[in-house]
Amino acid sequence: MIGILWLLSTLSITGSLEVHTVAKYLATCGENLTLSCDVVADNALEIKRFYWMEKQDICDFGEDTDRTDFRCNGTSSKATPMIYKFSLSISDVQPRHEGTYHCKLRAKEGVKNNKTVLRVQKCVGDSTSGKTAEEATCTFKDVYPASSVQWSRGGENLTHLATTEVKKNAEGKFTVISSVKLQTEPSDSDDYDCSLVMPVENERNQTVAQTLKSLKNSGGRMATAQRLILAIVFGTLLV
Ligand SMILES: *[C@@H]1O[C@H](CO)[C@@H](O)[C@H](O)[C@H]1NC(C)=O
Ligand SMILES: *[C@@H]1O[C@H](CO)[C@@H](O)[C@H](O)[C@H]1NC(C)=O
Ligand SMILES: *[C@@H]1O[C@H](CO)[C@@H](O)[C@H](O)[C@H]1NC(C)=O
Ligand SMILES: *[C@@H]1O[C@H](CO)[C@@H](O)[C@H](O)[C@H]1NC(C)=O
Repeated sequence: MIGILWLLSTLSITGSLEVHTVAKYLATCGENLTLSCDVVADNALEIKRFYWMEKQDICDFGEDTDRTDFRCNGTSSKATPMIYKFSLSISDVQPRHEGTYHCKLRAKEGVKNNKTVLRVQKCVGDSTSGKTAEEATCTFKDVYPASSVQWSRGGENLTHLATTEVKKNAEGKFTVISSVKLQTEPSDSDDYDCSLVMPVENERNQTVAQTLKSLKNSGGRMATAQRLILAIVFGTLLV
């Protein structure tokens, strides 16, 4: 009899104790984001431990974290039903922050966990383009995830003629260097256009190709014109 009563009371309590998190968060590189963990309970909980962790512990409810890129904020309602809001903020999110963030609750009333999978994408840093007598080159730095480069000249697709190198850097991002041999004389004034095309995941779990950045490798005559303008400006300054 006591056993059944105990079972019923346990069921009713655990039934009303829920830990809510967002299942997946797709972040853009550099974003400041907040992951939420909300606990709803009929009555005040006798909390043994309530914390956020990824590969290691990040913070406990009501305490701060010593990690500079994280901030934790725990608040609870003053009356029943009890709502415990425990957020984890990440500033300037980077690929190294990717992972599964667990919000774990150990209370006398029950043990509950939930989690958020964090994905970081659309990273691209400094990019440069250049043109020599033989080839046009584009360099995209701090790219994540790994991406490809497409080339065109005056509407003509030159991608199949390009060679692209993708190198991983110490931060887990990529340097993407792509070159294409010039198709006509070095003096030709056509623009060689390169585009960084990235596989980007959307909310419907689909991966779509997105052009993140485009650069122009300006033609010879154009560059000469620019040099001329520079010379004039410089000359004027000297006078
Ligand atoms: C985690 O939170 C989501 C969103 O509130 C909820 O739908 C899901 O049932 C929760 N999972 C668990 C195991 O509590
Ligand atoms: C993120 O927050 C910092 C201050 O904490 C701010 O300087 C920066 O502009 C914010 N970044 C974005 C992308 O909102
Ligand atoms: C903590 O979160 C509460 C809302 O849940 C908000 O009112 C408060 O400003 C936050 N505190 C900080 C330091 O961000
Ligand atoms: C250019 O060609 C490549 C294959 O060589 C193809 O993947 C890409 O979609 C083409 N780009 C355009 C804009 O048609």
